[in-house]
Amino acid sequence: MPENGTVLVTGATGTTGSRVVAALARAGRPVRAASRAARPVGGAEPVAFDWYDPATHDAALDGTEAVYLVPPVGASDPGEVMLPFLDRARRAGVRRAVLLSSSLVESGGPATGPVHEALPGVFGEWAVLRPSWFMQNLTGQHPHAEGIRDEGAIVTATGNGRIGFIDADDIAAVAARALADPEPPNTDWILTGPEALSYDDIARTVSEVTGREVRHRPVSGRELRERYAREMPDAWAAFLADLDQRIAEGVEDRVTDAVARVTGRPPRSFAEHARTYATL
Ligand SMILES: NC(=O)c1ccc[n+]([C@@H]2O[C@H](COP(=O)([O-])OP(=O)(O)OC[C@H]3O[C@@H](n4cnc5c(N)ncnc54)[C@H](OP(=O)(O)O)[C@@H]3O)[C@@H](O)[C@H]2O)c1
Repeated sequence: MPENGTVLVTGATGTTGSRVVAALARAGRPVRAASRAARPVGGAEPVAFDWYDPATHDAALDGTEAVYLVPPVGASDPGEVMLPFLDRARRAGVRRAVLLSSSLVESGGPATGPVHEALPGVFGEWAVLRPSWFMQNLTGQHPHAEGIRDEGAIVTATGNGRIGFIDADDIAAVAARALADPEPPNTDWILTGPEALSYDDIARTVSEVTGREVRHRPVSGRELRERYAREMPDAWAAFLADLDQRIAEGVEDRVTDAVARVTGRPPRSFAEHARTYATL
């Protein structure tokens, strides 16, 4: 890809997108920040973009060389809107696409799986990021972070299951390299932090760092689903509760060296992450 090609960042106001905008801007890339209300993000050019409004797509793609793809939030089948967009992007001259998927979603699997599967056939240059759970779930805008702030408790159905939590800054650092490096990655990476931690471990670290007692309160999958269903559609509540149960069975108990390999530096630990956020 040319070194000065414009990058379109979808989800630019969100957890990873805002950091991808910042990382690309630091690398001197022209960036277009896409969100529904075209909100300003950093110094990037804001652009109105709604996955469900194809009339916004051509203007967002005009002059774009590469695109960071954050799926539409809460969609059970994001491919419905993303696959037609990929074709439109290729016709508009986009050469490289980097998809934000998830550690548990395989190519061809549910949710973003069909988009992952399609990517190599549509673009000559591509990458799929498959991060584990974000550390920002514990410190940003997320039910776990709210639970810590409001009740001093993290409620999960993960039992003693461990997760390779990753800082969204590290996801963004990988995304920026995947979007801007001259050589296309043409691969997918499972992205984790440096260690796999249970929510008991997380609660202990948050307690130590903040000086305020935080507990992990384990519940059954059914109880968690009922709890979530008070705040979100039942199907989404069931999906999230099921993920917790899979974590309890050990599916996320792993770490990879992908962040260090791609960025040349180790990923941030949860203790470092928590110390940074405690001072904000
Ligand atoms: N949290 C985790 O632990 C975790 C782990 C692995 C993978 N993931 C994946 O990460 C993804 C979420 O990424 P994120 O955390 O970076 O995003 P996020 O913070 O949830 O923000 C979502 C972004 O999407 C934009 N958006 C929402 N609806 C839109 C629409 N209809 N059209 C266009 N843009 C829209 C929002 O912008 P506006 O509202 O301003 O339009 C916002 O910028 C999900 O697909 C999730 O599966 C999360």
